[in-house]
Amino acid sequence: MIKLDAMENPFSMPEDLREKWAKRLSDVEINRYPDADMFELRKKIAKREGLQPEQVLLGNGSDEIIQMILIATVPGTCVIPGPTFVMYNLVSQWLKRPVATVPLAEDFTMKDEHFLQVCAREKAEIAFLACPNNPTGNLWRQERVEKIAKGMGGMLVIDEAYGPFSERTHTDLIAPNVMVLKTFSKVGWAGLRMGYLLGDAEVIAQLNKVRMPYNINALTQASADFLLDHFDLFEKQVEVLRGERERMAEALAAIDGVQVFPSQANFLLFRVADANAMFESLKQAGILIKNMHGSDRLLSNCLRITIGSEDENNAALTALREILI
Ligand SMILES: Cc1ncc(COP(=O)(O)O)c(C=O)c1O
Repeated sequence: MIKLDAMENPFSMPEDLREKWAKRLSDVEINRYPDADMFELRKKIAKREGLQPEQVLLGNGSDEIIQMILIATVPGTCVIPGPTFVMYNLVSQWLKRPVATVPLAEDFTMKDEHFLQVCAREKAEIAFLACPNNPTGNLWRQERVEKIAKGMGGMLVIDEAYGPFSERTHTDLIAPNVMVLKTFSKVGWAGLRMGYLLGDAEVIAQLNKVRMPYNINALTQASADFLLDHFDLFEKQVEVLRGERERMAEALAAIDGVQVFPSQANFLLFRVADANAMFESLKQAGILIKNMHGSDRLLSNCLRITIGSEDENNAALTALREILI
């Protein structure tokens, strides 16, 4: 299978870097518990972000941080746009906390007034805004995000899982009630499981109370420390993927029977006449993407394809064209 379903970076690491990394890992003492505080790692990440180590919380993937935030802010309502990343709703349900969804328009845009109205009506304790949004791929207009950040009574989490593929970050909006969530998954470390939250130092200290002491294992800590020193490699790969996204978007738009939506992420959402049939035919052709049909009224006959390497993308395009002939 050509795997284009989970927003992973398709590139593997160069052999010489792998060897150095393996050497570094072989020095890790796995008989000892990992560093629970991870100050040096937080310092390294904070430096990259122009913030203080006290403003960084590390998680076993950003999924774990979403869980920590929702645990720490129980029991008030959680407000999210719809459709958006499923974990906000799922974890809220585990915790039996109410969720209010603000439906997007047909073109997946959202009015800040609507979002703020729902937050005020529900007296929202917490709201999540994925910037860019998953599974739609669009990035809310900057003024909208700013208005929501300034107008929210409760906490706002700006989830930038796809930020590296988009035109901007929102770290300048960090305030006592505004946090920015990031992850290394999409830029190439999905298997390591490491995400981080940036926020006001006092808020981060409070959230840290619901963090399991050894949530980042020793091998991931050592890997992150090592790989951050070689981060230009991943940044170059992100650049290649951004270029491939533009090429794929144009190529898909040129296919009769395909409607492709604008994306600032490492995936594209597109609509066909019969998404179920297209999904099955692509699978038969050895290409795995994500069928979004049935997950939300707005996503009828929509499919989501992760941007892969040039060869993978070409194989997907060829298969798509053949199926639609
Ligand atoms: C918007 C968004 N946030 C967070 C995540 C979770 O990423 P991870 O737990 O790998 O850091 C995802 C994964 O698909 C996502 O789409």
